[in-house]
Amino acid sequence: MSGQPSLIHTFNGIPFTTRSSTELLKSLDTFQAREDDVVLVSFPKSGTHWLAEIIKHLYASNVTLTSPIEFGELSKLEEMKNLPSRRIIPTHLSYGMLPRDLKAKKCKAIYIVRNPKDTAVSLYHYYRDNPNLPTIEAWPTYFNMFLHGEVVCGSWFDHVLGWEEHKNEGTILILYYESMKKNLPKSIRKISNFLGISITEQEINEVSRMSSFSEMKNNVDKENNDPNHTVCALTSNRKLIFRKGAVGDWKNHFTAKQNRLFDDVYESKMESSALARRIKYE
Ligand code: A3P
Repeated sequence: MSGQPSLIHTFNGIPFTTRSSTELLKSLDTFQAREDDVVLVSFPKSGTHWLAEIIKHLYASNVTLTSPIEFGELSKLEEMKNLPSRRIIPTHLSYGMLPRDLKAKKCKAIYIVRNPKDTAVSLYHYYRDNPNLPTIEAWPTYFNMFLHGEVVCGSWFDHVLGWEEHKNEGTILILYYESMKKNLPKSIRKISNFLGISITEQEINEVSRMSSFSEMKNNVDKENNDPNHTVCALTSNRKLIFRKGAVGDWKNHFTAKQNRLFDDVYESKMESSALARRIKYE
């Protein structure tokens, strides 16, 4: 990473790309929330675009899907003021960095979590393909970076724990990537109940179909022509997003030794986490 310092900077101890300016990050707490804002939260590569797609269909596109709150320059906050409600706001921010007013106004947040081994692999490929991220060395070096929270957005463990701490406040819905893969209609029902959207079984099936991996991948060219379609602060190019969309790809990358090391770190860091116990590997 040291050869390309201009792509990454650190703020509050967390690595961000330079697509998130320091001035914007410093000013996030001045962001003015609205009671009906909905925040879509994730550690990178956990299924952010998938979740955004589902939400867009649930609201029949009658919402403003904004770019991530941490993406851009200071002027971003002013631009957000001019966007019509209801704003759907994606973000990779830690709970600690989420603008204060979103918490004060008790805005709903949906947190999507994916098993960290697949997340690590997906982010590895993102580092390799995404020009906004530094070039990384081979998998073993990257593996250690992920484990030590030295990748963009910092530690997966800290991110999850920070959000999980607030899960009983009634404003956060936690979704699991693997459960969505297993039974998407059930997850869509959960999301619509949480958001107070009434929906028929038939509509749920239609949203499921439109949010499938193949459908979303096929629509990339069409969606890429829309400059407002930036869901992840790390890229505006949807061609970089739809890789495999699978559960268990980590097995093609982790050595047995890396797997043991990962499990050890996971066990010690996530010891107190009920959420971690729900994550199953396939
Ligand atoms: P892979 O790299 O493992 O394929 P994010 O949107 O947070 O950047 O996450 C991207 C990951 O979610 C990618 O994982 C991508 O393929 C996967 N993904 C995107 N849309 C999906 C969908 N409809 N169903 C399943 N996985 C999807």
